[in-house]
Amino acid sequence: MSVFEWSDSLSIGIPEVDEQHQGLVDAMKGLEKLVKPEVSGGHLHVLLGLFMMQVSGYVKTHFSFEEMLMAQHNFPGLDKHRKSHRKLEEDFTDFSKRLEQAKDDEQRRALVKTLLTFMHDWFSQHVKRDDMAYGEYLREEGIV
Ligand SMILES: [Fe+2]
Repeated sequence: MSVFEWSDSLSIGIPEVDEQHQGLVDAMKGLEKLVKPEVSGGHLHVLLGLFMMQVSGYVKTHFSFEEMLMAQHNFPGLDKHRKSHRKLEEDFTDFSKRLEQAKDDEQRRALVKTLLTFMHDWFSQHVKRDDMAYGEYLREEGIV
């Protein structure tokens, strides 16, 4: 079973944001499938490259949406939250570069495992704590 499963504990109570987070959970499930032994060599290299490109685009759009929502409603923690988003984007770019430079499948699979653990932690820290905080703020303000 995947370590990435959507659960109510990940819901911040804003349907659009929850849907986007669900999309990311699904993307991570897709990534887990890519590291199966039947995918290898040039095929694995190309698929991982495409995956990283797609997901980094998705993440950027999602972060812009969240930041727009927080800015619109004067969420006091916006600056800190923005920094946390930029950090993840940097880390993601770094993973993409390392995957691109990986010499063989063994290195690629090891990097993917690290990325999956990293994203798993990100969901429990960023989504469950930081996104939840602006969700609560918007609820308290009567916006959602
Ligand atoms: Fe966020």
